[in-house]
Amino acid sequence: MATGRQIQNDYSPLFQPGSIGDLELKNRIIMAPMGNALADDKGNVTDALLDYYRARAKGGAGLIVTQCVSINEPDMMPYSLSLHDDSYIAGMKKLVDTIHDYDAKVSIQLMHPGLLLLLIPGLPKNMTIKVPSLIPLLGDDKPYEVMTAAHIGRIIDDFALTAARALDTASPRSLWLWLEKITFAESATCSMIYMNM
Ligand SMILES: Cc1cc2nc3c(=O)[nH]c(=O)nc-3n(C[C@H](O)[C@H](O)[C@H](O)COP(=O)(O)O)c2cc1C
Repeated sequence: MATGRQIQNDYSPLFQPGSIGDLELKNRIIMAPMGNALADDKGNVTDALLDYYRARAKGGAGLIVTQCVSINEPDMMPYSLSLHDDSYIAGMKKLVDTIHDYDAKVSIQLMHPGLLLLLIPGLPKNMTIKVPSLIPLLGDDKPYEVMTAAHIGRIIDDFALTAARALDTASPRSLWLWLEKITFAESATCSMIYMNM
């Protein structure tokens, strides 16, 4: 009978093929989304960013979740990826292809940062931190902007439009929309997974 210690040391299932729905993964190693500040100041893919993801794909991850990708210009995280207009599609496609070259799958994490911007020291000038309401806990020392219902509606549309752009980065066009969280009190994130067929 296996003891607790033996079970803990048996990592072999990690290297077995796995699946999420009908998305097949060569193993169960999934790289979590992590910002690395390797995009340029406008959110474009750079050679350094490609090298970073190439190394992880080559290292054997079955699925790589990208760092957060901005969905609109006013809420773009500095030096994080963006896909807020069509000019970003070619760069993002290069990233997707680079990861696919090593038979790894890609999940593109689309994000509206919300209160995550509190973590960024020295927000760019004119950038506001969007909140659904200004509760006392937040204080009044940051550039908060209380959103209207119409504004929230525009952000939801931005998610949809960016998802459509993300579709253009993959061939064949397979898409899973994986809604992690959309809470405007915190941050809004949704991820997508592409598969190679
Ligand atoms: C440097 C850094 C950047 C991160 N960037 C993101 C991100 O862009 N999107 C996201 O959802 N999580 C991000 N995270 C959170 C990680 O994906 C992960 O959830 C977190 O580190 C907790 O994982 P752990 O419990 O294995 O440490 C980041 C974490 C770190 C350390």
